[in-house]
Amino acid sequence: MPMPTPRPIPADTVSLADYERHFHAMMDPAIRAYIAGAAADGITQHENRAALERLRLLPRVMADLSQASARTTLFGEPLEYPVLIGPTAFHKLVDPDGEVATVQAAGLTRTWMTVSVQASVTLEEVSRHASAPLWFQLYMQPRRDDTLSLVRRAEDAGYRAIVVTADAVVSGIRNIEQRAGFRLPPGISAVNLAGFAPNEPVIARAGSPVFQGMLRGAPTWGDIAWLCGQTALPVVIKGMLNAADVRPALDAGVSGIVVSNHGGRTLDTVPATIDVLPAIAQAVSGRVPVLLDGGIRRGTDIVKAMALGASAVLLGQPVLHALAVGGMPGVAHMLTILQTELEVAMALLGQPRLEGLGPSVLHRSP
Ligand code: LAC
Repeated sequence: MPMPTPRPIPADTVSLADYERHFHAMMDPAIRAYIAGAAADGITQHENRAALERLRLLPRVMADLSQASARTTLFGEPLEYPVLIGPTAFHKLVDPDGEVATVQAAGLTRTWMTVSVQASVTLEEVSRHASAPLWFQLYMQPRRDDTLSLVRRAEDAGYRAIVVTADAVVSGIRNIEQRAGFRLPPGISAVNLAGFAPNEPVIARAGSPVFQGMLRGAPTWGDIAWLCGQTALPVVIKGMLNAADVRPALDAGVSGIVVSNHGGRTLDTVPATIDVLPAIAQAVSGRVPVLLDGGIRRGTDIVKAMALGASAVLLGQPVLHALAVGGMPGVAHMLTILQTELEVAMALLGQPRLEGLGPSVLHRSP
């Protein structure tokens, strides 16, 4: 599969949707299918956007905006604006510098970045190029020693939080990717996992290849409690949709929750993240930060998520779209667009502070 050649960002690229459109036009079809492809029929991927688009904002006018700011704090550290780069795998699929380009764009825009355990560059190499806080995402490995070695490496490299993805104990039904025949090109691999016991599908000698095969190492809350006891870093659980999981997560000792459906890439037909956020935020009741991802493409989407209880949002696919289209400058430009859109939305809503964003900024149809 050919590597895309870096090229100037087209002049009509003024929104995240424009990056997505250019990404689709330029990208190798198999890589496109992997990055953009949802699970099964794409019902959830579509619903993430549709649910955000259904919500209507209700502004106040003549508010005092002289002290307006989109700054906030997360885990006690100042955050320039409430957007983080979420974990996505294999950035070298779209840019020869891979995650190094992404983290440089994150630094330029003072955006926190979550580096995927399936990054195509080692976590240490990414951190060498970082000038804004980094989080490290992992899957619990079949062997605890492997999980622990990843955590220790992340600690040593200065990462500030461990994000455990909970919603993908097996890979989803990725028909779009299967039809396109996606394979990782030579030279691109999950370098952080080199030498580990595979967490990939293995064909069991007997029984179901899913239950006796892929699920061999599937973690439970006991494993999360164990992990929380092994590190002083905050452990954040990513991939929760059901408020019934809040109590076991808090009991296990997690420091944060990401409401996520993996961008619609795991179990298809689950609800949009924005639709389950209020119930999860209510169950959490302010004890730990709640973040959200899934379909965030506009500053108004961020406002809606925060109005319904999120402390910040994560971006997945838009980062890869911008990296493919414009390389490092593309990602920095995309993040700047989103930050500006958020600030414009706050100003036009008459909301000078993020803390003021609550259900009152949403219009409920009679
Ligand atoms: C995916 C895996 C890498 O969504 O999380 O493709």
